[in-house]
Amino acid sequence: MSNIIFLGPPGAGKGTQAQLLAKELGIPQISTGEILRKAMREGTKTGLEAKRYVESGALVPDDVVIAIVRERLQEPDCANGYMLDGFPRTVYQADELAKFAKIDVAIELQLADDIIIERLSGRRICPKCGATYHISHLKNGEVCENDGEKLVQRPDDSEATIRNRLRVYQDQTAPLISYYKERGLLKAVNCEGTVEQNFAKVLEAVNG
Ligand code: AP5
Repeated sequence: MSNIIFLGPPGAGKGTQAQLLAKELGIPQISTGEILRKAMREGTKTGLEAKRYVESGALVPDDVVIAIVRERLQEPDCANGYMLDGFPRTVYQADELAKFAKIDVAIELQLADDIIIERLSGRRICPKCGATYHISHLKNGEVCENDGEKLVQRPDDSEATIRNRLRVYQDQTAPLISYYKERGLLKAVNCEGTVEQNFAKVLEAVNG
């Protein structure tokens, strides 16, 4: 059983790698960003509350995301392990997580800002299933390979908002690197390579 955290700046490839690892290990990928976007699409109370934070690149209040994750981890599909993609994002979230979950490894995906901006500006997502693509690798035109939905750009993928997300990451999330290092749980993976090269390194980090 593996309970895995994916840490790293926006656009480092957390979602891409977590999707691959979910298939490989047969454990769920729990993306707080995706859960919040779904809530926004459905217009739930959480979605309405989260919208202004997500669209400006700010963090949604800790208590909102902690409640989401605490509830999600009680689902039966988490019994044999799970991947947290984009959670925790503050030291407070990490401290709270430690009260209801035992983490085995925190994988830090590393990528330089200029590559991040290029990857995020070209990202397209499926509004229905959340699958992620890049305009330079579309095999099926601008439609989702899973369900045929027309792909869209995320509202927080404009260059100004990406830069804000990078600042927020440095200020509020990067301290988690030393947090998990001090606990002996951190493994770093450089993500400049291809998706496949990066996945090989992620697998090594999980199994090593
Ligand atoms: P979230 O959805 O988690 O966004 P993020 O952390 O900014 O990360 P991204 O999804 O942008 O990037 P990624 O690292 O997953 O990269 P990807 O694999 O897509 O959060 C969104 C918002 O929700 C936050 O800003 C916040 O408001 C809120 N939120 C979420 N969690 C929260 C929390 N815990 N607390 C408070 N607020 C929270 O890859 C990017 C692109 O690159 C894609 O197009 C992909 O196809 C491409 N790509 C990937 N790998 C490669 C490669 N090797 N080579 C070439 N292209 C590649």
